[in-house]
Amino acid sequence: MSIWTRRKAIDTITAGHADSHQLKKTLSWPHLVALGVGAIVGTGIYTLTGVGAGLAGPGVILSFLIAGAVCACAALCYAELSTMIPAAGSAYTYSYAAMGEPVAWFVGWSLILEYTLVCAAVAVGWSAHAHGLFKMAGFPDALLAGPHAGGIVNLPAVIISMAVAGLLALGTRESATVNMVLVFVKIVALIVFVTLCLPAFDASHFTPFMPSGFPATVGPDGVKVGVMAAASLIFFAFYGFDAVSTAAEETKNPKRDLTIGIVGSMAVCTAIYMIVAAASIGASRTEVFSKSEAPLVFILETLSHPRMAQLVALAAVVALPTVILAFMYGQSRIFFVMARDGLLPRALSRVNAKTGTPVLMTLLTGALSAVLSGFLSLKDIAELANAGTLAAFIAVGLSVIVLRRREPSRPRVFSTPAWQVVAPAGILGCLYLFYSLPAKTQTYFLIAHLIGAVVYVAYGMRKSVLAQAEKASS
Ligand code: ALA
Repeated sequence: MSIWTRRKAIDTITAGHADSHQLKKTLSWPHLVALGVGAIVGTGIYTLTGVGAGLAGPGVILSFLIAGAVCACAALCYAELSTMIPAAGSAYTYSYAAMGEPVAWFVGWSLILEYTLVCAAVAVGWSAHAHGLFKMAGFPDALLAGPHAGGIVNLPAVIISMAVAGLLALGTRESATVNMVLVFVKIVALIVFVTLCLPAFDASHFTPFMPSGFPATVGPDGVKVGVMAAASLIFFAFYGFDAVSTAAEETKNPKRDLTIGIVGSMAVCTAIYMIVAAASIGASRTEVFSKSEAPLVFILETLSHPRMAQLVALAAVVALPTVILAFMYGQSRIFFVMARDGLLPRALSRVNAKTGTPVLMTLLTGALSAVLSGFLSLKDIAELANAGTLAAFIAVGLSVIVLRRREPSRPRVFSTPAWQVVAPAGILGCLYLFYSLPAKTQTYFLIAHLIGAVVYVAYGMRKSVLAQAEKASS
């Protein structure tokens, strides 16, 4: 058998889960919308709004709409696959069943890249909001920013990366109650922000609407600008919705609840983001607030609301670490599944008997996130994370198409509506966003995957469980 036809059978993937205990069906669509919004809203809106506005001008509102629409297509595909193949591993597992081992490896490697980078990016966003607190504690400026911003190291970002990894290694999990409280804190802070911006609204700030045009084009300083360049960056603000599709088993009426839950949380986030972006632009010119690393806080300060600015910063400081927690946990889970499949060394994902967590893997992820966030800019990290995510979303769209053709009669708890349109639209949208990323990011992504290919050929290709089974039967 060639490696290209080395696929996992869906029945084998789900077999172990069928006899294990069934999760209670307690969730309905309002819970799912809250879950989605909780996982999605983070550094993207609190920080990248500014960077995006710098690239697109007021047209960044359109960038949010485009990125949201692409993610909604991908999210609907996720929902179909997660209910059909209810097993850990997300896009990696779906690709293993639909497209075989080498593609699954590529997707798994992308996810590892993405999850680690998201942790680092959110850590940098957190640091920008915790800046004031660290300054009060006596930290010098050189230790509050990476070399790209004139400092030595972004120490707060390093500290939060390691702290979250430490908590996770000790067995901390996200709790539904904490999530609900933090969703409330994050959303209230954004509502307060918009309310305070409205009296200062100046419609003249919206012209010219697209000063750098619509497609991503290389500007005079070598940076890609335009509405699509901003969309390929703030795409970051939308992901995290896999959280909704992984709750599929626990929903009372998956067909209705998942559709409303996924499309609803996407629609709610897209609306919130567009309103926050519009309020920011109305209150301050994009070329002014785009320079700030904490743009919402900066705008409130310029509007003479220093107290409220501090409260919004505090909301970000309190709420953003759970986004890191969710992605670091996701990272160790993907790694664990890949190691269980024999594609990565099991020793790395060994679960500690006392805490029940893969301590080594978690601390390694924390250390990597700490190094990346300590020395690199948020824009660079987020764009590379997006490249990995886009690859995973493309694989999910392709998996839906492949499995619809190969296994048309397999029962689908949730079917992507108009899959013939939604799946290709998601794939094409992701490809266009990938194309709009900076050339530097595309090159790093390629290098990361060349390294990945070497690891696969040197290790997984021969050691995978399927390869061993082939060997045993030949
Ligand atoms: N969507 C998440 C955020 O914006 C990753 O922080």
